[in-house]
Amino acid sequence: MHLLIPAAGSGKRMGSDRNKLLLPLLGQPILAWTLQAAAAAQTIEWIGIIGQPIDFDDFTTILTDLNLTKPVQLIQGGSTRQESVYNGLQALPTDAPTVLIHDGARCLATPDLFDRCAAALQTCDGLIAGIPVKDTIKVVDSELLIQDTPDRSNLWAAQTPQGFSVPLLRKCHDEGVAQGWEVTDDAALFERCNLPVKIVAGEETNLKVTTPVDLAIAEFILKSRNLGH
Ligand code: CTP
Ligand code: MG
Repeated sequence: MHLLIPAAGSGKRMGSDRNKLLLPLLGQPILAWTLQAAAAAQTIEWIGIIGQPIDFDDFTTILTDLNLTKPVQLIQGGSTRQESVYNGLQALPTDAPTVLIHDGARCLATPDLFDRCAAALQTCDGLIAGIPVKDTIKVVDSELLIQDTPDRSNLWAAQTPQGFSVPLLRKCHDEGVAQGWEVTDDAALFERCNLPVKIVAGEETNLKVTTPVDLAIAEFILKSRNLGH
């Protein structure tokens, strides 16, 4: 299985002056944790890291330190996540029939989650890791007046990995460019093209490091894992 890791963001919500994936988390950069988990997943055989050229020296240092045995390629990202994944799809080896896409910022995903998504992708064309939402979700208007309270039992929080047939995902991305769709995950492009996307059980600890408090929570989770072993 080929894996693309979008890592070309800037981390605005983290309030950091550089790519948040380079911030330290328990002794190594966030991206190193993500890469370690991906490399430990048996089904992953190739990793493409999508980044901004300004970060490539730091990415190379991380890769040298990790000394992974799997092939890794650096791919130039775009100005949105959608553009970054688009570039990643162009850079995939031509023999890749399916692909997993996993945000660099989800550094707590386990090797088992990658392997379960890879296995499930043998039986469908599109899937995402997801978990049931715990909060009651409100739909609001621009004045913050609540318009609706959707039935929580139908609501799932989308995570990554997300996995797809490569030719179908390429088509959906092309359609997204043609129609000017702006989306925050790849499943949304599949959905807009009326293609089915399945949910695979995600992990409650598979948070996306987005704001400073997420870093503190991620550190706590990693520490408790260490204690457990
Ligand atoms: N990403 C990307 N290319 C972009 C923007 C984001 O590859 N142009 C990646 C990020 O590096 C991250 C993932 O997409 O791994 C999810 O994005 P997000 O958590 O929003 O990260 P940032 O965009 O860096 O953060 P922010 O939105 O707060 O600026
Ligand atoms: Mg972003």
